[in-house]
Amino acid sequence: MPVNLVVGIQWGDEGKGRIVDYLCAGAHIAARFGGGANAGHTVIVGDKTYKLRIVPSGVVTGVESCIIGPGTVVNPESFLAEIAALNAAGIDTSRVWVSDLAQLILPYHIELDRAGERARGKDAIGTTGNGIGPAYGDRVARCGIRAGDLRDLAYCRSIVESRAAALAPIGIEVDSGEIMLWLERFAPRMLRHVCDTVSMLHEALRAGKRVLVEGAQGSMLDVTFGTYPFVTSSVTVAGGAGAGLGFGPTCVESVMGVVKAYTTRVGGGPFPTELTGETGERLRSIGREFGVVTGRARRCGWLDLAMLRYAARVNGVTEIALTKLDVLDGFDEIEVCVSYSGTSNASVPFQIAGDAQPQYHTLSGWSAPTTDVRSFDQLPSAARAYIEFIERECGLPITLVSVGPERRQIIERGVRALAAPARA
Ligand code: IMP
Ligand code: MG
Repeated sequence: MPVNLVVGIQWGDEGKGRIVDYLCAGAHIAARFGGGANAGHTVIVGDKTYKLRIVPSGVVTGVESCIIGPGTVVNPESFLAEIAALNAAGIDTSRVWVSDLAQLILPYHIELDRAGERARGKDAIGTTGNGIGPAYGDRVARCGIRAGDLRDLAYCRSIVESRAAALAPIGIEVDSGEIMLWLERFAPRMLRHVCDTVSMLHEALRAGKRVLVEGAQGSMLDVTFGTYPFVTSSVTVAGGAGAGLGFGPTCVESVMGVVKAYTTRVGGGPFPTELTGETGERLRSIGREFGVVTGRARRCGWLDLAMLRYAARVNGVTEIALTKLDVLDGFDEIEVCVSYSGTSNASVPFQIAGDAQPQYHTLSGWSAPTTDVRSFDQLPSAARAYIEFIERECGLPITLVSVGPERRQIIERGVRALAAPARA
């Protein structure tokens, strides 16, 4: 049963969207298992740029169906705005499906998210302000509303009223009448996309179809394995794919870890290899490191192999896609963190939050541009050495290398579990 996973194994924004877009040529179904519109995926095809937030990136390639799974949190208003934008771009969105088990994000989740950040003051997480955390909070507190609950607006009303009663004493005013008007406005259009995605997925698997599961955010933002509390509220690691879509571990054929050739992070929290000076600025401007969702400048730093080895283990990564190699064109020297010193025997997130001192290995840079290169052999020798160094240090093959944002700016290398042109 071929399910192939693609997950980011840094702090998000590794370029998963473009890798998934490329690999979807070999898949029938593209599926998301967690997160919400906090994600921002960019896919560039020719002169067209598509910005996706919750709809799987596979929508751009014409897979048969796109699934937004039970493990996600969906804001009906922003979902429908994204659908409208895709329609306007000429993309068929009748194949985008939201699980009836997915949780809804309501306006009061957004308010709670912002109030929580204000209360944290200088220790703010730097959330995207989309209500992700409070929506997941309501899910586990068993007072959330699922997409399928929109079929019964009287039930939704009872939940909204009881939430309003519970939030009033803590100073959050919820006008339940207004929330219901909001839900009633979006419910009919939303319900056209809501279905039993678990059956849809399993029928496809039984028919021998290929499912490409795309992660959102990155492993170091995972609610358990990331740099808690500076994390998102969902499971972002590969193990969450089955729990967020409704299949077992036995279905998974491969796990591709997407790694940017350097490191970025947006929002607060520790970042051992961060470069706050000129070099960081250079990575940010060449790499256009500004958030798709919030427009915030991303913090930039060197590649961190100590973190990557941890993330690769946690995800069971079988192969790596290395993105944005071209951003390093023209650097005289490139540093890579190979280990941390000064750390205890605590888990990696504790080491990162503590006094981990990155130990760097310096590699030579290359001056020739890589953006037009399409085969590994034609890369500058220092770029090949950089790739091979990462492979050796992580003990994993790098099977795809991207050298620019456009769909064709990719170098294929070796045999991948999911071969791009395989779709029957
Ligand atoms: P939240 O997911 O909006 O609650 O934000 C929690 C943390 O995750 C913040 O540091 C965000 O910047 C970060 N985050 C959430 N989604 C993404 C993403 O798609 N890319 C990068 N960072 C993200
Ligand atoms: Mg992003």
